[in-house]
Amino acid sequence: MNVELYERIWMWAAAGLLLLFLGAIFLTAGVQAVQPPSHIETVDPTALPTHPEFGAPGVKMRPDGSIVVSIVAQMFSFSPDPIEVPANRPVTFRLTSADVIHGFEVVGTNANAMAIPGYVSQFTVTFKEPGEYVIGCNEYCGTLHHNMVGKLIVKKESK
Ligand code: CUA
Repeated sequence: MNVELYERIWMWAAAGLLLLFLGAIFLTAGVQAVQPPSHIETVDPTALPTHPEFGAPGVKMRPDGSIVVSIVAQMFSFSPDPIEVPANRPVTFRLTSADVIHGFEVVGTNANAMAIPGYVSQFTVTFKEPGEYVIGCNEYCGTLHHNMVGKLIVKKESK
């Protein structure tokens, strides 16, 4: 079979592009670990009220001074609300949902994750600017989705 040189160049170029794109996926997913801010930690969404952590959601301080906030999202609010954390300290958010998928976005920052029933989403942020931030649910979760807002208070650390 005779394939024109011009045609062969295009075939190799197309195959090369495919390999390039596949390589980009494997590189970002595998090597740079670019993935949703969850870590495949599961939790029983029907047993949250008796869960040792999510049964009493709130702000806790670790021995090293870092902050952990456990949050339960549920139609149509976040618990706890408001959330109060200090500025300039790493804050680890751990969130889950008691019913459907909700969003958790601290407006104006890059703190943004999904609250998924059955899973714990976790990410860490340091807030530099003290003040009051709005937390919004950015996943459509029902008729009152637009009312699902919370408040984050970032306090200046007292020395
Ligand atoms: Cu919760 Cu939209």
